[in-house]
Amino acid sequence: MLESRRILLIIGGGIAAYKALDLIRRLRERGASVTPVLTQAGAEFVTPLSVSALAGEKVFGDLFDLTDEAEMGHIELSRSADLIVVAPATADLMAKMAQGHANDLASTLLLATDTPVLLAPAMNVRMWEHAATQRNIVTLRGDGIAFVGPNDGDMACGEFGPGRMAEPLEIVAAAEAALGEGPLAGRRVLVTSGPTHEPIDPVRYIANRSSGAQGTAIAAALRALGAEVVFVTGPADIAPPEGVEVIRVQSAREMLAAVEAALPADAAVFAAAVADWRVRGASDSKLKKTKGGLPALEFEENPDILATVSAMKAGRPGLVVGFAAETDDVVENATAKRARKGCDWILANDVSPGTGIMGGAENAITLISEDGTEAWPRLSKAEVAKRLAHRIAAALG
Ligand code: C5P
Repeated sequence: MLESRRILLIIGGGIAAYKALDLIRRLRERGASVTPVLTQAGAEFVTPLSVSALAGEKVFGDLFDLTDEAEMGHIELSRSADLIVVAPATADLMAKMAQGHANDLASTLLLATDTPVLLAPAMNVRMWEHAATQRNIVTLRGDGIAFVGPNDGDMACGEFGPGRMAEPLEIVAAAEAALGEGPLAGRRVLVTSGPTHEPIDPVRYIANRSSGAQGTAIAAALRALGAEVVFVTGPADIAPPEGVEVIRVQSAREMLAAVEAALPADAAVFAAAVADWRVRGASDSKLKKTKGGLPALEFEENPDILATVSAMKAGRPGLVVGFAAETDDVVENATAKRARKGCDWILANDVSPGTGIMGGAENAITLISEDGTEAWPRLSKAEVAKRLAHRIAAALG
């Protein structure tokens, strides 16, 4: 909820501005008051009348409106809010922010403020991917600015890719998280993610193809609901989400040690693809090619992190969630795995070659708990993560 929270909403100039109208309603439904600022370009897409009617407040739009300055100066306007949301945040607005420009009301407010800022970018995919925009994002993140989206999808300009503004409810959830609200506020959740690397010698290792995509999405979704997230990740391809505590590890044994050090937690989600074996007696110096033949690698078993945490007598998280990637008899095997590992929930996914799930963008999950099995439709990994985060929030109460 956003009861009594004051949100300054800056609406930039982009086709996604129409979604800002719905966003105002959603924010107000949750008890927030919304003070709208419409940029000159924003006013080309939505009218000040619609914005003020939905917000129930006057729209601010011109830096040099002397009446406004007399009633409420722009410094005061920027500081009286609990959170500033920029939706849509255009490439131009982000560039201004990164450079510290203050040549209209929106950019002046953003420069004059000490209030947390949340950006919901929306732009053409090429503009989003442009080196200049990406540089600005790094700068803004470094300045402590939070982001929600953009999402992948069809764009109004006819292209496809990242650049669609996050949906109003996603922005609301991110606003709640930025304000320390949301159904998981005050809850600590641990997430493991990515592959592990098991050393052969100082330069070689054994690994697997996990990208870390599902674990990263889960950590982001939990954070978006307000959780304090500890993200223990092996060397993954994907950058960790914002706003989470990141602990980087290489091997399974390092991952177990990091997990144990990160407990206690209210819930733990084990999404990492942990290597089952490591090389026995990994060499401290680089193995040389010798005339004597090939090195003989022997393996030994790695600790099972999920099973270890599930079996903890003291300090076991109240809810322990594991994954089971299966190719045959998915539900049967995953049900047996849940019992064997001692976890509360198993998210089973069918990774048979025909499904395209392994390494793909989607997942088809069956949730197995003590209440039985529940088949989810085929969803993007981001949607799976959101659904799981909401289920965890409901289970923790
Ligand atoms: O046994 P299997 O690898 O299929 O189990 C998968 C589940 O167990 C995943 O949740 C994974 O993160 C977890 N796991 C673990 N430590 C291991 C192996 C698997 O935490 N050594």
